Amino acid sequence: MFGDSVYEVTQTFNGIPFLLPEHLERLWASAEKLHMSFSFTKEDLSAQIDSLIKAIALPRIYLRIIITRGEGDIGLDPSLAKKNNIILIAKELPENPEWWLTKGLSVIVADTIRTSVKSVDPGAKSGNYLNNVMAYEEAMKIGAHDAIMLNHAGYVTEATTSNVWIVQDGKVITPPLKAGLLGGITRAKLLEVAKKHNIPVFEENFTAKELRMADECFVTATTKQIVPVTTIDGNAVGTGLPGEFTLKLLQLYKKELGLR
Ligand SMILES: Cc1ncc(COP(=O)(O)O)c(C=O)c1O
Repeated sequence: MFGDSVYEVTQTFNGIPFLLPEHLERLWASAEKLHMSFSFTKEDLSAQIDSLIKAIALPRIYLRIIITRGEGDIGLDPSLAKKNNIILIAKELPENPEWWLTKGLSVIVADTIRTSVKSVDPGAKSGNYLNNVMAYEEAMKIGAHDAIMLNHAGYVTEATTSNVWIVQDGKVITPPLKAGLLGGITRAKLLEVAKKHNIPVFEENFTAKELRMADECFVTATTKQIVPVTTIDGNAVGTGLPGEFTLKLLQLYKKELGLR
């Protein structure tokens, strides 16, 4: 009801859910932002996830964890919800398409604006993704792969299900959390990896104009890892090919996280 739920998405590598503690941490943080309490512990949930993954027994599983506020009489009052529903979705996750890294993604800057942190806080991974759905539909309508959303001040926030980064004059930049975006787990890991390797990395606001002028652009998310963006609103980013810096960051990210 009302998008009154929180969720997480991760994948397995060899039967182990990737960065599960980080995802559970964010699930609890999302619930806290919505003042939603849980009737179970992280250990309870991990045990359910484990048995589901064992039952499915596929090499690469997409795992979605959805927690609703719970059943009860219909109404906006959160106290009507008596007990959370836990919904776990596990399905085969096909390999990421090769063209993501050879051709890159085309994106648009959406007319749909990301909600402010004082509205439905985009920092909570909630079931209320209607803005993202609308922005994604804008992209689909003109044949682009995804949409990037701005905030009310005109700064870039994120794509519909991934964080956005630019490379400009050797600087790697991603918008700060206060711009109104989800604190991506891949985003956090990549910030760590870049800092460890003394790559100049910054959490700074940038505008749609700066995005379009960037030398390179890429998006990050758990199942996507790092994917180059090569076209924005029909115009080439840099050379129009996946950026060298972007591909180097991907190699570094995979090496540091022990991924293939
Ligand atoms: C809106 C949004 N931003 C960013 C991300 C990336 O987050 P993560 O790296 O934790 O997958 C997601 C995840 O799907 C998302 O839904």
